[in-house]
Amino acid sequence: MDTKVLLPTEENIALAASLLNSGEVVGMPTETVYGLAASAYDPLAVEKIFRAKGRPQDNPLIVHIHSMEQLGEVAARVPDCALRLAERFWPGPLTMIFEKSEKIPLAVTAGLSTVAVRFPSHKVARALLEAAGMPLAAPSANLSGRPSPTTANHVYNDLNGRIPAILDGGACEVGLESTVVLLRDEENAALLRPGAVTVQMLEEAIPHVVLDKGVLQALSPGEQALSPGMLHRHYSPRANLVIVDSDFQSFCAFVESHAEGAGAMVFDGEESALPVPCVTFGRQGDPIIQARLLFSALRAVDGMGVRTIYARMPDQEGMGLAIYNRLLRAAGFEVITL
Ligand code: TXA
Ligand code: MG
Repeated sequence: MDTKVLLPTEENIALAASLLNSGEVVGMPTETVYGLAASAYDPLAVEKIFRAKGRPQDNPLIVHIHSMEQLGEVAARVPDCALRLAERFWPGPLTMIFEKSEKIPLAVTAGLSTVAVRFPSHKVARALLEAAGMPLAAPSANLSGRPSPTTANHVYNDLNGRIPAILDGGACEVGLESTVVLLRDEENAALLRPGAVTVQMLEEAIPHVVLDKGVLQALSPGEQALSPGMLHRHYSPRANLVIVDSDFQSFCAFVESHAEGAGAMVFDGEESALPVPCVTFGRQGDPIIQARLLFSALRAVDGMGVRTIYARMPDQEGMGLAIYNRLLRAAGFEVITL
C-alpha cells in the first residue's frame, strides 16, 4: 500500500472522510499531536488502528467528537463537572473519561466500560469529523513505543505502507498529547496524563485535582493502572536517555567526564558549551515552545548515532509537568541528581 500525504483541501478532506466511511484508517492532524483515525463505531476499522501501530490490545483509544451532541451519543452519562470543564476547555487539548454508551464497541475501550473523549480544536480535525459524520477513535499516529508525531512527515516515517492516507495540517501547535482526567465526583478528579490544560487550569472548574501515581512514577506490571497506557514503554529513542537534575555548570562537567559515545539534549543556546553532539528543545523557562519541540528532538536523537544521551531537567511548573512526564517515560524513569 502506498501512503498518500494529502493537503487539507476540501476535496482531500472529502476523500479522507470517504476512506473512513469505508472502514479505513487515516492520519489526522490535531492541535496536540497527529492521530490515526477510524470510525469509533466500527470494530473492524478500529482493529486496523491497532495493527498499523503495533499497539498492545490492552491500551484503549480516545474518541474524538465535534459537537456536544456527539458526546451524548458516546457517553452513557455526562456529569455537571464535565460540562463545566467542556465549557472552559473544549474544543481543545483535554480528554475526559466517561461511562461508555452502547454504541461504543469494546474494541475501542480495550474491554473497559469507560470511554475517553476529546473535542479537538484543530480546523482540519474538525472538518474531517464533520465530513465523516461520526466520532473518530484515534490514538497518536506513531508506531507503538515511538515518540508521538507532530508533523505529517513523522507519521509518514512511522506508518508509510501501513495506512492509505495522511492529511497534512502542518506542525502541531501544542506538540504533546492532551491532558487526560478521570472525574470522580463533582469536587474531585484524577489527572491521568498531564498536558497543555494544567492542574491549575482544571482547578478553576473542579476544586480538587490529584496526580495519579503513574504520572511521575513507574508502575510495576502487576500494579493497577487507572490509565492502561501508563504501563507501556513510551517515546523511547534508540539511545539510552538519562535525565540529569542539576545546574548547567554541573551538567557540563558531568557530560564532559562521560563524553565517550554520549550526546546531550539541552536548552537553546547551551550547545556551544558542550563537547558532544547536541539536540535542543527550546529556551529554558519557555514550556510552550519546549512542548512543541520535545518529540521532534527525541526523534532527532536517533539520527545522532550516540549510545547515551544526557538531558537537561525541565521545570515542572504548569505545562512543564507534561514535558517532564514525557521525558521521564522516554528515559525509562532514569534520573541522576547531582
Ligand atoms: O492529544 C491526544 O490525546 C492524541 C490526539 C490524537 O488526540 N491522542 C492520544 O491518544 O494521545 P493515545 O492513544 O496515544 O493516548 C490515549 C491515552 C492512553 O494513555 C490511554 O491509556 C488513555 O488515554 N485512555 C484511553 N481510554 C481510557 C479509559 N477508558 N480510561 C483510562 N485511560 C484511557
Ligand atoms: Mg500515544
